[in-house]
Amino acid sequence: MPSIPQRKITVVGAGYVGMTAAQLCAQKHLASEIVLIDILEGRAKGIALDLNQMAAIEGIGARVVGTADPKQTYGSDLFIVTAGLPRKPGMSRSDLLEVNGKIVAGVAQYIRKGSPESFVIVVTNPLDTMVHLMRAKTAFPAKQVIGMAGVLDSARFSWFIAESTGANVTDVDAMVLGAHGDSMVPMPQFCTVNGVTLPHLVDKARIDAMADRTRGGGAEIVNLLKTGSAFYAPAAAAVAMGKSILGDERRMLPCACFMNGQYGFEGIYMGVPAILGKTGVEKIVEIPLDNESRILMNKTAGAIQKDIELLRSLALL
Ligand code: LAC
Repeated sequence: MPSIPQRKITVVGAGYVGMTAAQLCAQKHLASEIVLIDILEGRAKGIALDLNQMAAIEGIGARVVGTADPKQTYGSDLFIVTAGLPRKPGMSRSDLLEVNGKIVAGVAQYIRKGSPESFVIVVTNPLDTMVHLMRAKTAFPAKQVIGMAGVLDSARFSWFIAESTGANVTDVDAMVLGAHGDSMVPMPQFCTVNGVTLPHLVDKARIDAMADRTRGGGAEIVNLLKTGSAFYAPAAAAVAMGKSILGDERRMLPCACFMNGQYGFEGIYMGVPAILGKTGVEKIVEIPLDNESRILMNKTAGAIQKDIELLRSLALL
C-alpha cells in the first residue's frame, strides 16, 4: 500500500459528484481521512461504509467518515463542495442560484469556523456565482477559494477533438475559459494534439461545431440521463485541482479564479488558466487574446456579473 499523507479532505454533498470525488481521493491516496458530509446522514454513512469496504479490496489506507455533523469536518485541509441541486432537463445553471446559494452560504459558515486554513474547491452550480459567494462568506484569501469548471469544460472539448481527429484523448490538450455556462469561451487556437494546433488538423466548421457541443456539454448529459447531471468528469476535475494544490504540483489548469485586474476584470470569479500549488492559486496566467476571444470574454464576464446582481437582489450576498 502506498504511504498516505496525514491530511483531511472533506467532500460536501454525497450525491453522484461527491461520492465519486470521495472515491477518487481515496484511490489516489490523497489523504488519510476523507469526510463525506451530507444532510442525508444515512446516505453519507452508507457511501462511507461502502468505500471503506472497497478499500479492503483496493489496498486503500484512507478512512472515509460519513456524517451530517459539520463538526466532523473541522481541521480539514481541503474541501470539495458539491452540495446543491443539479439541473433538470431544460434548466440553465442560473436557475439554481437561489436554492444552491442558501446551501453554499450554510457550508461556508462551518468551513470558516472549523477549517480557517483550508482550501475550498467549489463545484456547485451556478459555478462562478457560487464560488464568489463561498469566498465572500468564508472571507478567505481569494487564492484559497477556487471554482471547478474549466478543467471539466476543457476535458469535454478534448474528448470531442479526440473523436473528430481519431487521436487518443491523452494526446489532446484543450482550453476553455470564461463562465461555466452558455457563454463559456472555447479557445481552439490554444488546443493541440501532441503539439499540433487544432486549426492545422480540423476545418473551421468542425471546430465551431465542437465548440458549440462543448458549450452544451453539460446539458447534453442532463438530457440523456433525465435525472441528475454529469459526475465522473466533474469529480475528476475537482480532484485534479485539489491534488495539484495539496501536492504542490503547480499544474496550469483553467479554473474559476478571483479577478484582480487580470484580463481587465475586477472583483468577479471567472475561468482563466492558473497555476495551482501549495498556496492555492499561485498565479493567474494571462495569455494574449485575439479580438474575437476578447469580445467573448467580455460577454461571459457580463453574464457572471448578472448572476452576482441576482444573488445580491436575493440578499444572499
Ligand atoms: C456540468 C455540471 C457539473 O457541466 O455543471 O456537467
